[in-house]
Amino acid sequence: MMHTSIYLSHSLALLVCIVFPLYLAIRGSASLSDIALVLSSLSERAEALHFKLTPSLAASPAPISKSLPDGLAHCINSFEQYPVLAEQVLQRKHVRYSKQTPAQKAISSQLGYPAHFEKARKGIEVNARFSEKIAQIARRDYHTGPRTPEDKEVADFGVVDLAFAHLSRDWSTQGAKERQAVFPPVLSGLEQHFGGSARGNKVLVPGSGMGRLASDIADLGYEVTANELDYGSILAYHLLTNHTSSLHQHTLQPFVTKWTHQANPSSRYSALTVPDHWPNKAVKLVEGDFLEMFSRDGEFDAVVTLFFIDMSTNVIDFLSNIHRLLKPGGCGSTLGVPLKWSTNSALQLSAEEVLQLADLLGFDVDHTSRKNIDSLYAEQPETLLKFTYVTQFWSATKR
Ligand SMILES: C[S@@+](CC[C@H](N)C(=O)[O-])C[C@H]1O[C@@H](n2cnc3c(N)ncnc32)[C@H](O)[C@@H]1O
Repeated sequence: MMHTSIYLSHSLALLVCIVFPLYLAIRGSASLSDIALVLSSLSERAEALHFKLTPSLAASPAPISKSLPDGLAHCINSFEQYPVLAEQVLQRKHVRYSKQTPAQKAISSQLGYPAHFEKARKGIEVNARFSEKIAQIARRDYHTGPRTPEDKEVADFGVVDLAFAHLSRDWSTQGAKERQAVFPPVLSGLEQHFGGSARGNKVLVPGSGMGRLASDIADLGYEVTANELDYGSILAYHLLTNHTSSLHQHTLQPFVTKWTHQANPSSRYSALTVPDHWPNKAVKLVEGDFLEMFSRDGEFDAVVTLFFIDMSTNVIDFLSNIHRLLKPGGCGSTLGVPLKWSTNSALQLSAEEVLQLADLLGFDVDHTSRKNIDSLYAEQPETLLKFTYVTQFWSATKR
């Protein structure tokens, strides 16, 4: 491993940290095909609800404003309509439940199963208070104006569901174990490369998600820029950072619509509170595409990525951009390697090929820094199904 003093001898230290896991499918448990089922055979109760809720969907708004950033209106609407969308998930479950024979229903009742629908509705109400607050603040911050009857912007349950999962991972005590697996190597990588002197060093965290890693890096004294394009994350992050007055202020039941892989009847309703730690307000958040938002070459001393580079449609674009944004002069950089590529990815490289690519693009990879770290990502703590990612951690230097 390169010695710290070597890095110190370079005035322009560059650090790139990328830990790479596969992305989760943290989506709701019901499939889209169930919608047909819902429409054809809602139970009496679900039908009543359907009628009650339909006007709100029908009245759901036209694009709030054409001038808003991509995805913002969609996310605001999704947070606003969460109660309706979550209820639909519940209704699909209820339709399947209702199709049982009377004898099967009687047995289900002995298990206390019908009570889950009511309990889940209470959880949805808890979550709705939080998601509606996010939307309310977003409308104010981005000057969208109130929702209008003409607004036809679609809403997506997945936006909110994913945001809840990310919030839980980044900003709850329940997420600490997951963070502990992948944050320390990144933080100590930075410390090693900068010889512990954070002040004055500019670190970019593209694909920052809910922002906890960026915040933790800023807590060490680095000048941190976070970058994210997904408003599902950005809006929730705004609420935590700018509109929260106490730790653990917001309560969530993120798993209330997920009934598969549950360990016990009550695990569906586990509640958590956020934030468990104050987001560092010194972090500058740049909203938009990493490939478009930074025009100045050599702006950063380090680029740190976590669960990010496999999100690219072409990893050459992402790594080249990281290389461009780093200050010239050799210094330690750490990179993680992705193994899960989107189906849109032009290149679906193996871990070894990503390292070769980094070399071809002008990085010196420090092979002694490589680590395989088993990690989970935004998992429900009690779930009986856990995806383990063998995340790849490595550092490289811009030549
Ligand atoms: C799997 S998440 C990881 C988030 C965060 N780094 C973490 O570890 O929790 C990947 C993030 O990258 C963001 N992202 C993907 N492509 C991006 C791009 N071109 N510019 C900025 N952010 C991007 C996604 O919106 C998503 O929040």
